[in-house]
Amino acid sequence: MNAVTEKVSLSNALDMSNYWMPFTANKQFKAAPRLLKSAKGMYYTTVDGRSVMDGCAGLWCVNAGHGREEIIEAVYKQMTEMDYAPSFQMGHPLAFEAATKVAEVMPAGMDRIFFANSGSEAVDTALKIALAYHRSRGEAQRTRLIGRERGYSGVGFGGISVGGISTNRKAFSANMIPGVDHISHTHSLEHAAYSQGQPAWGAHLADDLERLVALHDASTIAAVIVEPVAGSTGVLIPPQGYLQRLRDICTKYGILLIFDEVITGFGRLGKATASEYFGVTPDLITMAKAINNASIPMSAVAASRQVHDSIVNAGPDNAIELFHGYTYSAHPTAAAACIAAQDIYRKEGLFERANQLAPKFQAAIHALRGEPHVKDIRNLGLMGAVELESRPGAPGTRAYDAFLHCFNQGVMVRYTGDTLAFSPPLIVSEAQIDEMFATVKKALHAIA
Ligand SMILES: Cc1ncc(COP(=O)(O)O)c(C=O)c1O
Repeated sequence: MNAVTEKVSLSNALDMSNYWMPFTANKQFKAAPRLLKSAKGMYYTTVDGRSVMDGCAGLWCVNAGHGREEIIEAVYKQMTEMDYAPSFQMGHPLAFEAATKVAEVMPAGMDRIFFANSGSEAVDTALKIALAYHRSRGEAQRTRLIGRERGYSGVGFGGISVGGISTNRKAFSANMIPGVDHISHTHSLEHAAYSQGQPAWGAHLADDLERLVALHDASTIAAVIVEPVAGSTGVLIPPQGYLQRLRDICTKYGILLIFDEVITGFGRLGKATASEYFGVTPDLITMAKAINNASIPMSAVAASRQVHDSIVNAGPDNAIELFHGYTYSAHPTAAAACIAAQDIYRKEGLFERANQLAPKFQAAIHALRGEPHVKDIRNLGLMGAVELESRPGAPGTRAYDAFLHCFNQGVMVRYTGDTLAFSPPLIVSEAQIDEMFATVKKALHAIA
């Protein structure tokens, strides 16, 4: 038996019945599985020994590339020294060090860091902090949360309630958390198709928040949560001036602004945060994924000092200020990985590297304009999307076929609906960007 045959039979021998896969068409997948076995740098290797370029940094998260020795060593060392320590009424030094590292790259004044384990948990945490903040100031009636249509903020009940993706909501629609409303999304092919970078049209859409203020009264609204760039619904780039306008309206009415930076955090746009990139500072930032290069589950919320101090100074010294936390908040190994990843980002200047690669990425993705099925192309930093015409009566199938074709030709991309999404690790080379989009072009010609 040669090496390849051996690996194929390994995949054939795998019992696939027990693992109920997340966000996956289980029957379809298990009938023709795509199994990854190892990863290094820009590439995965499949169980049958094929090399596949990672065009989406895993799930928008492996920003420093795969298999980073510094992270492996830090995790190994920490695991050997102390595998676990509770974070409730106890601490360990790496938790504090990791918080300091994260705080160093947050916008000025947003340096109070609460750890959780996933983007969804970070979102729930931020929503709770917003409610606790108003309560601490004697405005406990501010309980309404505002999300945005086509927003994705994870899968907790808080996240799906403020989120705006109907497929994620419909099965649970009767059980959404109460008191949530949504502003409209900013995506318009009519006004902004093929925008390179931020669309010029659409800042006025932030005024939709004024409509909700008029409807509910500002005194009932706790927070607005948006992704600065909506990732999971197909890379929707905010119009020029839009986020600043949202900020101004929130400030005017004392509403907290939460940026969900689970995707945009740690270099995706060429700066540490989208907040820094856009020059708009929210009150709370949620982050996860690239916080430790996705090596161990970890997420966090950065809070402004104003929000933090209001909650923490509200009660006596011996009272727990925020009744919230997770068994694995600031898990020692995740914290070790976080410190190592942040050191890599800084030493290798990866955020700046993304910034420098952005024009190349923009030119390469927009070169697909006019190729078969292409209906829109959009980009910012090192994230971009190619939206395809849907097949009549079969939405999503065309992008799935393109995704499959690319995977079989050695490039992993993402698809959502009929949109292909790209977010390579920030270590990607110009040649790899060309290779990625050349593969996509071939796929567009190959599929019906
Ligand atoms: C903006 C945003 N928020 C929250 C989440 C949820 O993160 P997780 O899957 O780690 O719970 C995601 C995941 O992609 C995301 O993109």
